[in-house]
Amino acid sequence: MNRNLALEFVRVTEMAAIASARQMGRGDEKAADQAAVDAMRSMLDSVECRGTVVIGEGERDEAPMLYIGEKVGSGNGPEIEIALDPLEGTTICANGMPNSISVMAIGDKGNLLNAPDIYMQKIAVGSDCKGVIDITKSPTENLKRVAEVKNCRIQDLTAIVLDRPRHSDLIKELRQSGCRIYLIVDGDVSAAIATTDPDSGVDILFGTGGAPEGVIAAAALRCVGGDFQGILKPRSDEDIVRAKKMGIDNIDKVFQIDELAKGNVLFCATGVTDGSFLPGVRFKSWGAITNSIVMRSESGTIRNIQAHHRFDMKPRY
Ligand code: FBP
Repeated sequence: MNRNLALEFVRVTEMAAIASARQMGRGDEKAADQAAVDAMRSMLDSVECRGTVVIGEGERDEAPMLYIGEKVGSGNGPEIEIALDPLEGTTICANGMPNSISVMAIGDKGNLLNAPDIYMQKIAVGSDCKGVIDITKSPTENLKRVAEVKNCRIQDLTAIVLDRPRHSDLIKELRQSGCRIYLIVDGDVSAAIATTDPDSGVDILFGTGGAPEGVIAAAALRCVGGDFQGILKPRSDEDIVRAKKMGIDNIDKVFQIDELAKGNVLFCATGVTDGSFLPGVRFKSWGAITNSIVMRSESGTIRNIQAHHRFDMKPRY
């Protein structure tokens, strides 16, 4: 995949981040998401590619833009697949809380799992623990394995978990194991990425969140050498039908990281609200400052990009 595409795509997440950051703390989730979608969609066609959205805002009848199967890009250039979330953490942005991002993962055709919009049980760790985790084992067993590799006690580890009633047994077990727990209100993509950053203070992600977010997180972790596994968790027969429609017949399958995102992948994200992963958008008299990360699995390069956007020169904002 052309490496210059990485810089093209970061312009797309920057634009979506700026648009949704205007809605920070305004209590209107729909407006925040819509702003991000509109901005991302309008920017995408300037990218020299023949892209297909494989993870997006939903199926065609429920999403007028960035729906699954939508063709995006200029229509020239490489044929690629795109998994996107214009605003990951809609509620946290609308409530002015930390860690909302605009995010995209890009793969060659056929390389990103077309995940249904249902739940997925997830486990994620950084590169030092690659090959050590097993989602079919208990959280305690996984903590033991991680502690052994990190040469520390379980009490020294921090697990990150979405704060949801469905996680009450998980949280109970984690508390019994003695590990520290970081409960988050939303945003398990940045939570998964946090496990790969030695400075984040987070060692492992457990819990169930959106399957589309699982694919995006897996793409990010492919770039930084972390590990990720997922199992779909349908809540109804309708969910099972949705999975089958996407070509997934074995609903209990354990998806390994390179089955969720295989081959060469690109990942880019721009901070919307301030977070441990990325600073949020800052508005100035002359424009805005964004902070983004761009990563490629092929080279393992990670770029942190701070961009100063001049609204007087770019009226499009
Ligand atoms: P949105 O950006 O769609 O609001 O998703 C936020 C999120 O927290 C994801 O990070 C996570 O995977 C999912 O929602 C969890 O779903 P639920 O809120 O239903 O528990």
